Amino acid sequence: MLTLVSGSLSFTAGMHPISFNRVAVNMMATPNAAAIYDGKYTAELRKTANAMVAKGKGLLACDESTGTVGKRLEANGMENTEANRCAWRNLLFTTAGLGEFISGAILYEETLFQNDPNGKPFVDVLNANGIIPGIKVDVGLKPLVGGGPGETWCTGLDTLAERAPKYYAQGARFAKWRTGLKIDVPNGCPTDLAIEVAAQDLARYARICQESGLVPIVEPEILIDGDHDLATTARIQERVLTTVYAKLQDNGVLLEGSLLKPSMTVPGVDAKDKSDPTTIAKMTVQTLDRCLPPAMVGVTFLSGGISEEDSSIYLNEINKLPRKGAWALTFSFSRALQSSCIKVWGGKKENYKAAQDQLYARAKANSEASLGKYKPGSQPSIEQSLFVKNYVY
Ligand code: 13P
Repeated sequence: MLTLVSGSLSFTAGMHPISFNRVAVNMMATPNAAAIYDGKYTAELRKTANAMVAKGKGLLACDESTGTVGKRLEANGMENTEANRCAWRNLLFTTAGLGEFISGAILYEETLFQNDPNGKPFVDVLNANGIIPGIKVDVGLKPLVGGGPGETWCTGLDTLAERAPKYYAQGARFAKWRTGLKIDVPNGCPTDLAIEVAAQDLARYARICQESGLVPIVEPEILIDGDHDLATTARIQERVLTTVYAKLQDNGVLLEGSLLKPSMTVPGVDAKDKSDPTTIAKMTVQTLDRCLPPAMVGVTFLSGGISEEDSSIYLNEINKLPRKGAWALTFSFSRALQSSCIKVWGGKKENYKAAQDQLYARAKANSEASLGKYKPGSQPSIEQSLFVKNYVY
């Protein structure tokens, strides 16, 4: 294993001289490393990935599992029925002008194959609004045997190669796989095992999706549960991201046709020092600069339990800073885009338009933040903590 952090180097592998520029990843110096994906979808993957992070645009994550979306519906006076899930997603997708700020929507499998209340496929509804449909393809977290207390691993790989072409045929053009890592320093978490398993599975998923024309969003979420400080998060996130990128390269993932969905680099939710937005932004950019290869297209942050307004403010501060990497830094929020909207709606016909206005407002705020031009407080939000202990998606 050869680790390069900066500078350049050349050496000979077999008969071929290979030269490297600055790449902050671990590289397997072996002639048997997997070849980078180069097949019938190469050009399309590059095009889709770039469209997803087009200037001023980000993603609407609404791929909550039936249980998770059900909790949100129930908290706002609705039953968790298929009709109500359909009505809720229809409200989101038909918000006029949403496509000005939202390039893609991540769907749960039920929604990808669902029609709107008038019988029109949701895929067509989204495309008509200028939004690319995508699909969550992992099937959830399970306890990691041999890992630290409460650690998990993410399942769904065994059936992915059969499922991915069906998602593409239905109109999905990108995919998401979320794995969660917890910081618990006294108990040694995340363990090396949890990081290795998370990174390897993300890389297998990414390569399999590219073979079927789906741009993989690689999501190693660092949960905000805990009282650790900002420096601890940064140290652990650097380790996680460098491991993930080494594995992506080992698996021959086309970086130019992929996106990263990380957490922002924030202290634990119970940390004594909460850190200010500028410091959080600096640590986030530093972490990404240290870990991401320049060939990668873009970063679409998750909100992870941070409030709507704070998520926009942090993203805005991040985009004000100079950085070494040329990747887009934008959003792929669920809670931080939908929370006020569902509250305003409450399942009532008379609130429908006001709820759509609320979604539009937060999407606009985040679009501005992705350009470093958001004026804090200029868009409405029902301020509340969105943190849920041990959150599952
Ligand atoms: P949050 O923005 O609510 O963290 O969700 C984003 C997501 O897609 C998590 O997988």
